[in-house]
Amino acid sequence: MKIYLKKKSQNETNQIIFTLKTEKSFKVLSNAFEKEAKNLSKFPGFSSDFKKTLNISNPDGSSLITAGLGTKEELNTEKLREAFALAIGKAKSLKLSKIFISLEGLEKYFDEERLTEALVFAAFAMNSKLTKFKTSKNKTSAIEVCFTTSGTPSKKLKVGLESGTAQGKALLLCREWGDTPGNFMTPTLFAKSVQSEAKKRPGLECQVWNKARITKEKMGGLLGVSKGSDEEPRFIVLKYMGGSEKKKPLCLVGKGLTFDAGGISLKPASGMDEMRYDMCGGAAVAASMMAIADAKLKTNVIALIPSSENLMNGSANKPGDILTFRNKKTAEVLNTDAEGRLILADALSYASELKPAAIFDAATLTGAMVVALGNVHTGFYTRDDKLATQIQSVEQDAGERLWRMPLTDYHVSDIKGRFADLANMGSSRGAGSAQAAGFLEQFVDSRIPWAHFDIAGTAWNTGNRQSYCPTKGASGVLVRSFFELAKLF
Ligand code: BES
Ligand code: ZN
Ligand code: ZN
Repeated sequence: MKIYLKKKSQNETNQIIFTLKTEKSFKVLSNAFEKEAKNLSKFPGFSSDFKKTLNISNPDGSSLITAGLGTKEELNTEKLREAFALAIGKAKSLKLSKIFISLEGLEKYFDEERLTEALVFAAFAMNSKLTKFKTSKNKTSAIEVCFTTSGTPSKKLKVGLESGTAQGKALLLCREWGDTPGNFMTPTLFAKSVQSEAKKRPGLECQVWNKARITKEKMGGLLGVSKGSDEEPRFIVLKYMGGSEKKKPLCLVGKGLTFDAGGISLKPASGMDEMRYDMCGGAAVAASMMAIADAKLKTNVIALIPSSENLMNGSANKPGDILTFRNKKTAEVLNTDAEGRLILADALSYASELKPAAIFDAATLTGAMVVALGNVHTGFYTRDDKLATQIQSVEQDAGERLWRMPLTDYHVSDIKGRFADLANMGSSRGAGSAQAAGFLEQFVDSRIPWAHFDIAGTAWNTGNRQSYCPTKGASGVLVRSFFELAKLF
């Protein structure tokens, strides 16, 4: 996808213009179009309401697409992303090969860096689709997006364009990883793909641990889950040191379960194919590392991704089996389908040993999270109020809804084991997502600020959430939040 920023010239045909709703009528947010603006209301179907778009054909055959933003009072970058995505969608359905957007006038309403960042990101987000497995390709050529300014584009506009591109590319990568079916996305293949993406980025180091190394590192949870599969587990380590050497890193941990059939506690057949997306936590973590490296953020981040399949063969975990984790704690596997917490336990223990400034983990961890919050809000758990405030502070710029959930000693007492320290399933009904968080907490050094994000509801089929999210398939959630959060460390 070609996206660029340049000083405006003549002959810029297809255009997208933003409109604001005013008390009496409307206002065009692009100085370059004041003339055309007077006539807009003559066109049937024109509205400056949020999410309303209209294509007007010019006499020369080119298009003028209007994108309604609603009222000035409610305007924010998220509305800009949503409105722009719809306009880009319209341009694509009209098969336009190139579209121009004048930024003149818009910069009054937004910080210039956030302006191009949001627009560029939204344009990327409209571009994903896993088509490589279709033999007959409906070749839709990528649309070229050109932002224009009256003078030479400012430094801030350029920085925003780079940041939006870094995050947009990472988003598409994350979605592609999430959509790819299990036979093309085993732990080995996932690790290889992450490694080859890391190689393209200077400053990003990638190490992949094989089964022998994982055994040596005493990661009994990851080994235990992978026992039921012919595919070996992998443990992916990504390191980016863009900040000062003395600064403690932020640590990101992601569940990389490439296919979750449930194991002996088998899942129902209906919709099981979707369990390819059980590696979306790992994908979000890996993809945000790519964005952080591309944008050259001045920060230190280490990412850890335990990766396994959860299947059943003769050596699979049986309900009741007891596993010993890296930090020597033990757990009974009461339900082999609660495997995410088992592989994350080792990764969180290892993360704690690195003594990072904070740990964030992302996982499609529980069906209970889907029931609790649906697919709009990502629930997060932390006992650290300061960290919770930091997380909530990035919501607006990242454009991802994050909702704090309760984690208390009640939830921890629910996951105590009978024959081992812990049980991987709660003893009482309800709050399954909080119980899972309570389980994970047992593997984090209590002196390190930690938050757990359960993305079971928001990582997949989120078309009703934002206009730039695909109806079906992986959403790429958390790439932007982790990108923004990394800037705070
Ligand atoms: N990967 C699933 C969680 C999940 C469910 C993600 C639905 C997305 C949509 C996880 O491994 C799992 O199966 N969890 C169990 C835990 C239970 C057995 C305690 C669940 O939520 O049912
Ligand atoms: Zn499971
Ligand atoms: Zn799972």
